[in-house]
Parts: sequence; structure tokens; C-alpha cells
Amino acid sequence: MSANIIDGNLVARKLRTELKLRADLLAETWIQPGLAVILVGNDPASSVYVRNKAKTCGELGIRSEVFNFPSDISQDMLLRQIQDLNANPEIHGILVQLPLPGHIQLEEVIAAIAIEKDVDGFHPCNVGALVTGHALFRPCTPFGVMKMMAEYAIPIQGQHAVVVGRSNIVGKPMALMLLEKGATVTICTSKTRDLVHHTRHADIVVMATGKANLLTAEMVMEGATVIDVGINRMADGKLCGDVAFAAVKEKAGHITPVPGGVGPMTIMMLMNNTIEAAERAKT
Ligand code: GUN
Repeated sequence: MSANIIDGNLVARKLRTELKLRADLLAETWIQPGLAVILVGNDPASSVYVRNKAKTCGELGIRSEVFNFPSDISQDMLLRQIQDLNANPEIHGILVQLPLPGHIQLEEVIAAIAIEKDVDGFHPCNVGALVTGHALFRPCTPFGVMKMMAEYAIPIQGQHAVVVGRSNIVGKPMALMLLEKGATVTICTSKTRDLVHHTRHADIVVMATGKANLLTAEMVMEGATVIDVGINRMADGKLCGDVAFAAVKEKAGHITPVPGGVGPMTIMMLMNNTIEAAERAKT
């Protein structure tokens, strides 16, 4: 039987309507949520992401300010910009687009963001708070995955979840969020010995490796939920995920496509976090 397709565009559209209402409600009290995005250099993919963030902000009535610095900007200049934004009451969220150039200490830059404005959820205090279940903000991509699974009423408590990928942006926070909801969580990487042994016993598999078609049908349990966070560009220019979609969808119970799965949710969770930051600043 073919899997139910988890439609990220559909869930993102629904969320967008809810977020617009929240932004409108804030506007009635003369508060406009504000997001500052810092982009260093001119990586084409990062530039597209930043442009999409600014566009979505505009559609929801969120003020957005983009600071595009040359790739040789000094770390001190960057830290000074963050301190200015920390002190600016019109800015509720600050996002530093990753990756950063090699001469910049990523940890120092992220730690400079005020935690109440850390809408990416990458500040070490927010990471620690996620471990103890009290995060101010949750990282947008795994948060979006949790939201999608909730929309499709996919049970998590007591389920065996296997997360393949151990990045700070997706894999690690994803595992923590699943654990928080009561899943039994295994964290693997693309190099895990006998990866199939782990994935084949999973009720939920989340793929976040950046390795095209790594998860094949033989690696998936009948009826499992398969979430694909990978975005890989193939030689023919087409996008594909970490999951061999056509074959796996014949075995899975639920599956996210690429594109049109997790991708559209990430930006909406950023908008959610920014509006939440403004709502908190109001009280
Ligand atoms: N680069 C890729 N994904 C992300 C993300 O979620 N946040 C930031 N700041 N940069 C990214």
C-alpha cells in the first residue's frame, strides 16, 4: 500500500493563516514583530534563503531587516552589530545565516545573541534548556517536523524513532524533541555500522544526512513514518532528499516528499518564533 504523503505546503499554509492572525492581534497594540537577519558573504543558497525569509516576513506583517556584510568582515564588527540589535526594542528576533566564513568563531557569534531574541534556538543556553525541556525557542527545522507530525496525528510516545544525522541544526535537536515527547530515540549517522539494523526497527525515521537516496525501501519497516530533511541537488539540476522516495513510499505509512515536505515548514517556524518573541516582549 502506498504511504500517506505528508504535505508540508498544506501544513505551512494553515500555520501561515494562524500566524497572520497573531501578527494582526499584535498590530492592534501597536507592536510589529521585527526580525533581523545577518548574512555574511554571498553564498547563492544562503542569499535565496534570506530573500525568502524577508519575503515571508513582509506577507505576515513582520518587519525584516537584512544586514549583508562582505565575507571578510571582522568578528568584532559582527559582534558589535549583534549588540546593537540586542539593544534595539523594534527587533524581537536575530538570525545569523549559516554557514559563516572560516575566520569567524561561530560559537562566539551565536553566544552574543540575547537569548530572548535567539529565534533560531542555537544559543548554548537555549540548547541546554531544550535538553531540560524548557527551551525559549526551538530550532526551526526539527520544530517544523514535530508540527507536521502533530498535524497528521502521528503517535510519538513509546515509539522507536531513529534520527540519521547529528548536526546541531537538525539531528541533535530533532532527537531531543522526539525524546521530550516520549519516543525511544536512536541517533545514527550516515556512517553508522549496519545502519539498516537500526532503521528497520524504527516506527519513525528522520533522515538528515545530505546523502541522496541513502534510505532505501529494504531499510524501512512496513508502515513506518519517514521524514526526509535532506535537500540534495542532482547532476540534472533536480532536487532530491535522503530517501529513495518512489520505492520507500510503497512501504512507509507516512512520508514527506522533497521538495514540498519539511522545507516549507522551516520558514514558518521561524515566523512563529519571531511572533512569539514579540508577544513575550509585550508582557
Ligand atoms: N543554514 C541552514 N539552515 C539554517 C538555519 O536553520 N538557521 C540559520 N541561521 N542558518 C541556516
